[in-house]
Amino acid sequence: MDIVILTGAGISAESGLSTFRDTGGLWARHDWRDLATPAGFARDPAAVLAFYNARRQAVRTARPNAAHVALARLEAAWPGRVLVVTQNVDDLHEKAGTRNLIHMHGAHAGALCAACGHRWPAPLVMAPADPCPACARPATRPDIVWFGETPRQLPAIHAALAACDLFVAIGTSGRVQPAAGFVRRARTAGARTLELNLEPSAQAALFDAALQGPASRLVPAWVEGLLGGRAP
Ligand code: OAD
Repeated sequence: MDIVILTGAGISAESGLSTFRDTGGLWARHDWRDLATPAGFARDPAAVLAFYNARRQAVRTARPNAAHVALARLEAAWPGRVLVVTQNVDDLHEKAGTRNLIHMHGAHAGALCAACGHRWPAPLVMAPADPCPACARPATRPDIVWFGETPRQLPAIHAALAACDLFVAIGTSGRVQPAAGFVRRARTAGARTLELNLEPSAQAALFDAALQGPASRLVPAWVEGLLGGRAP
């Protein structure tokens, strides 16, 4: 039985990283048009880089919580294929030991040249004048997918959704496409679907089952049940 797991900011909340749309979340405190669009970056690169520098710093010291650890344990112990597709730009799945992982919205770990598209490992702090190592133009930006840009590895994700037997969404509001549409794709392909989230997401009605609670409690319990032979 193959499993695809979609994760969002809620899985990292208990590791001390802010979500986006909860009360006090990043997009409640900041305007995403200024900080998460190519147009915002063109208007004020210093403000955009300062925002991501602060986030990158927070991620550097954050530790995976019980939910990340449980998913890594599932991948190691499960006889079938387990793919984690994360919308998160932190590295907590990697730190927990997950290997089969797609960062569909990019990652803080990467730098991208807005001029030539070259990619390289991100420095801890980026400044607008930083030259691209390939073309030398001062166009360094985070390798993070902004609104209006295409998420990474969509063909591979769609192929996995079409072939999976179980799709699980964890800690995501279901408000951002294309990730919000993955449950429909998985259902259409005949997979069972499960949502684990603090509250019902915008897509909750589409899942076969939706459980509410903190990821650090729900995810380890679900993984133990699955590995113990209980139905998903
Ligand atoms: P959101 O902030 O939209 O949603 C987070 C979800 O996690 C909410 O439904 C919360 O109820 C839930 N949640 C909060 N704490 C939780 C906990 N301890 N356990 C379980 N669930 C919890 O975040 P995303 O859905 O990930 O894009 O947002 C999707 C994308 O929008 C992000 O990847 C980001 C943003 O713009 C980029 O940065 C490119």
